[in-house]
Amino acid sequence: MKNKLKKIFITGGAGFIGSHVTEAFFKNFTKSKIIILDKLTYAGNKSFISSILKSKRVRFIKSDINDTKKYTNFLNNCDLAINIAAESHVDNSFISPLNFTKTNSLGAHAFFLECIKKKVKKILHVSSDEVYGEKVTGTCFENQLVNPTNPYSASKAAAEILINSYKYTYKKEIIIVRANNIYGIRQYPEKLISTSIVNLIHNKPIPIHGNGKNIRYYLSAEDFANALILLVKKRDKGTFNVGSNFFEQNINIAKHICKIFKKNPKKFIKFTKDRLYNDKRYSVSSKKIKKLGWRPKRNLIKDLPMIIEWYKRNHKIFKKI
Ligand SMILES: NC(=O)c1ccc[n+]([C@@H]2O[C@H](COP(=O)([O-])OP(=O)(O)OC[C@H]3O[C@@H](n4cnc5c(N)ncnc54)[C@H](O)[C@@H]3O)[C@@H](O)[C@H]2O)c1
Repeated sequence: MKNKLKKIFITGGAGFIGSHVTEAFFKNFTKSKIIILDKLTYAGNKSFISSILKSKRVRFIKSDINDTKKYTNFLNNCDLAINIAAESHVDNSFISPLNFTKTNSLGAHAFFLECIKKKVKKILHVSSDEVYGEKVTGTCFENQLVNPTNPYSASKAAAEILINSYKYTYKKEIIIVRANNIYGIRQYPEKLISTSIVNLIHNKPIPIHGNGKNIRYYLSAEDFANALILLVKKRDKGTFNVGSNFFEQNINIAKHICKIFKKNPKKFIKFTKDRLYNDKRYSVSSKKIKKLGWRPKRNLIKDLPMIIEWYKRNHKIFKKI
């Protein structure tokens, strides 16, 4: 498989996760042409992929995923299409839920149909562990029914249901990946880790929803990208959870970041009104992908100092919403 992929198309490739995935595919599939589509919303930035944009193998298209006319011809003779583009911040989904349906459900559907039309050989769709909904105890396996609890996760679940229905109508199956929280450099300062770091850089307090006891699992963007590479090499279809064993309460993540900045958490953590609904915990079993040989190698606590250094140097590149 390795060098048989002549052309790879990636949506959302200038975003946080998308930029890591795009770089990893560029490095791993050394003969492949890579087409990157991104609308460049507040979360996307071409500078994240500046190291590969210079290559003749790479082409960037600035477009909304729904604007299929703008990019359909680039799907000709494509071996692999990966859909990563999304509105990704749960808090925003309470304010403008329809934007989430438009990009995450309708956009994913439109992209998938275009891929079918152009006979793209393999399609991978990036979803989220949030589609399962809250899991206070125990672990979710891939065959569990989805039960999303907010407009973001509902829009991701809707995309999966729409796309999966095509296995009956078009006999087309795809790879769906449900990841737990991903951490790393380049994440827009709106999620817990990136906001905590950027606020402390500006000597501002870290906002924590509710009592801060909600639990999240964290996987590095690099480990996630490696999971996608492995799946592309070994599978044509199927749903796969991709998660780590490292979890922590939100409040403890904030305290840990305060410690690295040598700031007093009592002064620099501010509790704010909770979300309309805030899942206490998610948990996915990654047994299925581990059977293929994938293992996460990185660890959030060890990586935090490196991530903080990156934000100290680069926080000014983030656009204001
Ligand atoms: N961040 C996480 O912890 C996490 C965890 C699990 C799954 N995911 C999923 O991973 C994917 C990427 O998440 P992220 O955190 O990198 O998001 P992000 O918000 O950082 O980046 C999203 C990217 O998509 C682009 N985009 C947004 N709307 C678009 C549109 N209409 N057309 C074309 N491009 C558009 C943005 O410009 C940006 O580059 C999403 O599908 C998300 O649901 C994220």
